[in-house]
Parts: sequence; structure tokens; C-alpha cells
Amino acid sequence: MDQATPQRVVVMTGGTAGLGAHALRHIATQPDTRIIIGVRGSGTVPRGAEVIPLDLASLDSVRDFADAVTRQLGDARIDILVLNAGMQTSNAEARSADGYELTFAVNHLAHYLLARLLVPHMADHGRLVITTSETHDPAVTPIAPKTLEPRTLAHPGKGGFGSGVRAYSASKLCNLLTAQSFAALDEVKARRISVIAFSPGLTGGTSLGRDSSRARRMFVTLLMRTVFRLVGLFRPEYVMGTPERSGEALAEVSLGTVTPPPGRIYISLVKGQPTFPDPSELARNQDAQDRLWRESAAMVGIE
Ligand SMILES: NC(=O)c1ccc[n+]([C@@H]2O[C@H](COP(=O)([O-])OP(=O)(O)OC[C@H]3O[C@@H](n4cnc5c(N)ncnc54)[C@H](OP(=O)(O)O)[C@@H]3O)[C@@H](O)[C@H]2O)c1
Repeated sequence: MDQATPQRVVVMTGGTAGLGAHALRHIATQPDTRIIIGVRGSGTVPRGAEVIPLDLASLDSVRDFADAVTRQLGDARIDILVLNAGMQTSNAEARSADGYELTFAVNHLAHYLLARLLVPHMADHGRLVITTSETHDPAVTPIAPKTLEPRTLAHPGKGGFGSGVRAYSASKLCNLLTAQSFAALDEVKARRISVIAFSPGLTGGTSLGRDSSRARRMFVTLLMRTVFRLVGLFRPEYVMGTPERSGEALAEVSLGTVTPPPGRIYISLVKGQPTFPDPSELARNQDAQDRLWRESAAMVGIE
């Protein structure tokens, strides 16, 4: 690597599989771009990318990753921080290393902590992208949350049928609330860091449901090919996209070739095209944003 050439530094989670892997491939084709990626397993990453271990199911691992990134950066700053990793379970019964419901812990809490630790190391005019989902919105997905109770999300009483999907859509609501809280920080505004919550839309062919049983995966595939296809005739949000296009769009958003109109932070990919709808009513609620921020800080042990 030629250290004399000024380089755009990209730090990313969730670049080893699914749409994130496609996004990373696009980003890696950009000249003078240094990529640092958090990886929990042995996923394939583009040549030249710097790999640092990261398991979002453990807050210690998140802290170690953030320390390693800042050590490795030295005086360099992060230009683009892409928090894309995500998971979904069939029920909300699994727990993280810290005892929190796994989907909430991986999708929201770990990324909240990571952003808190890394935003101070971002460059002025940098870009923070958090992958959310249109499933956060009851207007799109009827099971999406209509109220927010962070402690209940962290410690749900019971799992059971449908609890995994509900935990997932709640975690994606948390991503949107968190993105808006970061966008409102004085430090972020003063340093003109753009914050974007990106929804790739329903995307087939990724490994998001990999932890589900074979029978459940077959049921979901059947649902997508039948019911969703029918619903998609009058609700474009239900038209299934490809990981290639969703990944390309994530790269465009991350690189700043697609930006939301001034004052907006939510980009939702619908039929492969970026749209800029309002997030759900709850996602726009200031009390919900503040409460999630406060309670998440307490859960990860920072101010
Ligand atoms: N697919 C959809 O329909 C859809 C729709 C809306 C939003 N999204 C969002 O898009 C993002 C990518 O989803 P995808 O569909 O591409 O899923 P995917 O194929 O399962 O990819 C998920 C990525 O997250 C990483 N990851 C998961 N758990 C992790 C952990 N504990 N520690 C570190 N990394 C972890 C995975 O790493 P490994 O390679 O190690 O597994 C992988 O790189 C997610 O945030 C998801 O919520 C997806």
C-alpha cells in the first residue's frame, strides 16, 4: 500500500456475505480506498482489505475491534463507516455473550457501541451509514413495533412463534432511531458528518435466515414466491430485489453518489430505486430516540 497517497478510509461490518459482500466489492474498485472490515469467521473479503476480528454478539469483541481499528489507523481518520451486519432468528430465545436478546444485541446494541466508539475518529465531512429495514414500519409490515421498550427488547419474557421476526423488525427500528440520534449530535453536525439509514428492501438470495430450520427457510421462500409476489403487484415494497442491486445501492449510498434530500436521512430501496420516504411515526418520535440512546448507553456501560 502506498502510504504517501491520501486514502479514503472505509470501515465496515457485514461485508462478508449477502448484499454487504456485493457492496464491498464495489467499494473495493474505487481508487485510493483503504478498507478495514470486521469479520467474525473466515468470510471472503476483497484483496487488500484489512481484516480485524469482530463478533457483534459480544460487547468485548466490539470494544477490541474499535481499539484495533483506531490503533491501525494511527493519524488517519475514517471517511466512511458502514454498519451493515445483521441477523434474524426464528425465535427470540438466543442470548448474546452479555445476556441480551441476540437480534437486539447484534443488530442494534453492538452497532450503537461501535458508532459511539468510532464516530470521534471520523473525518470531517465523513459518512455514517446504518443498514435498517422497511420492516421497522407498521405501514409496511403489520407486525412492526408500535411502541418502544428497550429493556423488554433486551430481555424479552418469552420467545415462541413469530418472536424472531418481531425482534428483527424492532432491531431495525432501533437502527433508524439511532441513526437519527447520531445525526442530531452537535459534534456530528459541527463536523458535517452525514448520517444515513439505508433500507435495502426485501432482498432474496442472502443468508439472513440461515439460523432458521430448513423447513422454515423453505416456507419463507414459498411465501416470497407466492404471497409476496402477489402483494408486490400493488405494494412495491414487497417486490423482491437481488443482493447484487441492493449491494450496489449500499455502495452508492456509502460512497455518496446517492444522497437523501437535505434534512432527510432515510433511504429506502424500492424496486431497485432509492426513495426517500418518512420513517415510521415511532422512528421519528424524539422521546423514543432519546430513550433508546440513554438505555443503550447504560446497557453498554458508557455515558
Ligand atoms: N435480505 C433482506 O431482505 C434485507 C432487507 C432489509 C434489510 N436487510 C439488512 O441488510 C443487512 C445485510 O443483510 P443480508 O440479507 O445481506 O444478510 P446476510 O447475507 O446474512 O449477511 C449478514 C452479514 O452480517 C454479518 N454478521 C451477522 N452476525 C454477525 C456477528 N455476530 N458478528 C459479525 N458479523 C455478523 C455476517 O457475517 P458472516 O459472513 O460471518 O455470517 C454477514 O457479513 C442486515 O443489516 C439486514 O438486516 C436485509
